[in-house]
Amino acid sequence: MHPVALLLLCPLAVALSALSSPAGAGRFWHVTDLHWDPDYEAAAVTGQPCPSGGSRSGPPAGPWGSYLCDAPWRLLASATRAMRSRLPRPDFILWTGDDTPHVPNEKLGEEKVLLIIENLTSLIKEAFPDTKVYAAMGNHDFHPKNQFPGKEHRIYNQTAELWRPWLDEASIPLFRAGAFYSEKLPSTSTRGRVVVLNTNLYYDQNDETAGEEDPGGQFQWLEETLSNASRADEMVYIVGHIPPGFFEKKRGKAWFRRDFNEQYLKIVQKHHRVIAAQFFGHHHTDSFRMFYSDTGSPVSVMFLAPGVTPWKTTLPGVNNGANNPGIRVFHYDPDTLQVLDMVTYYLNLTHANMMASTEEEEFPVWEEEYRLTEAFQVPSGSAGSMQTVLERISKDPHYLQQYYEFNSVRYDLSPCQGACRLDHLCAIREVDFTKYRECVNPSSTASAITSVRLLFFCLLFGLFSPQQVL
Ligand SMILES: *[C@@H]1O[C@H](CO)[C@@H](O)[C@H](O)[C@H]1NC(C)=O
Ligand SMILES: *[C@@H]1O[C@H](CO)[C@@H](O)[C@H](O)[C@H]1NC(C)=O
Ligand SMILES: *[C@@H]1O[C@H](CO)[C@@H](O)[C@H](O)[C@H]1NC(C)=O
Ligand SMILES: *[C@@H]1O[C@H](CO)[C@@H](O)[C@H](O)[C@H]1NC(C)=O
Ligand SMILES: [Zn+2]
Ligand SMILES: [Zn+2]
Repeated sequence: MHPVALLLLCPLAVALSALSSPAGAGRFWHVTDLHWDPDYEAAAVTGQPCPSGGSRSGPPAGPWGSYLCDAPWRLLASATRAMRSRLPRPDFILWTGDDTPHVPNEKLGEEKVLLIIENLTSLIKEAFPDTKVYAAMGNHDFHPKNQFPGKEHRIYNQTAELWRPWLDEASIPLFRAGAFYSEKLPSTSTRGRVVVLNTNLYYDQNDETAGEEDPGGQFQWLEETLSNASRADEMVYIVGHIPPGFFEKKRGKAWFRRDFNEQYLKIVQKHHRVIAAQFFGHHHTDSFRMFYSDTGSPVSVMFLAPGVTPWKTTLPGVNNGANNPGIRVFHYDPDTLQVLDMVTYYLNLTHANMMASTEEEEFPVWEEEYRLTEAFQVPSGSAGSMQTVLERISKDPHYLQQYYEFNSVRYDLSPCQGACRLDHLCAIREVDFTKYRECVNPSSTASAITSVRLLFFCLLFGLFSPQQVL
């Protein structure tokens, strides 16, 4: 072909590639922590406080929910409706659990827990009848709550039945034996795999697995699954409910037992090349966690999605820990599974409740809250990009404040400085127990010596490794 002809084709090629890159990108939903309170409406009608609010008193229950309470049915119906209108045909959905209200065990029971899981399963199934859903159990999706055994159980059997339409046949026996499984992504991705974990087995409130080394054999299975994925040239998303590491809203609050935390971290460090990203819930807040190699380079990232329930946590020491209801879409490359972007949508609950009195029964709008690449000026959601996000929020108070407002889905707009800043940065950076403690206690002797050494080293070599930007 004549060079001029090639030149003439140039704009066409550019136009085509511009078309194909966003169109070729896949998208999926991640929703978590729906925490339905089935008795919310009945209580509201009689002027009683909601059951999930405990003894706390607050403003009267709004039609779309209340910050002291778990989600009324209308809020959940509104969330799935918003999902359908924003992205009706995602490649798949990640649903990371916690379906039941925050009420004592005596008010639930096994049958009620299963009925709630069934009801929410139907809600998602009806909104997305033809979509593959990768569902994980949350610590509230069991009776008694948190007490998940590392072996077969009636509740695992029943949940496997409820999720049978979403599960591959081969996943059912595995699910019955421990509520974890792994599947190839749907046909849109040829190299993609999802691993759904039952990290409730690692929760320090779980008496069933205390003292066990590898409950359910899940760690060994995970290692094998990741090794097999590597051999098959696959890339993996790891999905679960309770994350390792620390809660960014309460200093020193971890969920995993120490040795389980270590084992998880080791596996991620060893197999990071096949792990494209990790997606967890449980915090009800919007944050992320970084994983580093031994030499301090960022190798993996875990995205923590905000909850749909606005419920204000009762964890002592957390100040004003409620959130606006949030849902999120990930944009990804179906071949490499690289996270390209993340868009979070939210319901301003105060606003929705105010409008409800004038426009009865009209579903409220879930607005776009932010887009990762825009808000933090990064090219993607890769580990490298998320390290840049961490550096921006460490160094620039504007980015820190923006991150902090997203953390509660724009519920808490108060300034985050001092201890608040340290709690968030250390939780994001240090999943390891020892390193986290050094991070939040920079004055402790050991870390002071380390800091002096590091400072000396940095001055000497003009270096600045990503671990020291705090
Ligand atoms: C779930 O509960 C809601 C509210 O009580 C009800 O409207 C809906 O029909 C239930 N769905 C199923 C499948 O039980
Ligand atoms: C779970 O289901 C399997 C297959 O139906 C059955 O063999 C097993 O006994 C069940 N386990 C429990 C604890 O109910
Ligand atoms: C890994 O692959 C081997 C060989 O194909 C297979 O026997 C084994 O079950 C796989 N392990 C897992 C956890 O999938
Ligand atoms: C939410 O709505 C309330 C009431 O309209 C308003 O005062 C508040 O600023 C809104 N919050 C955000 C983050 O927009
Ligand atoms: Zn929860
Ligand atoms: Zn939870």
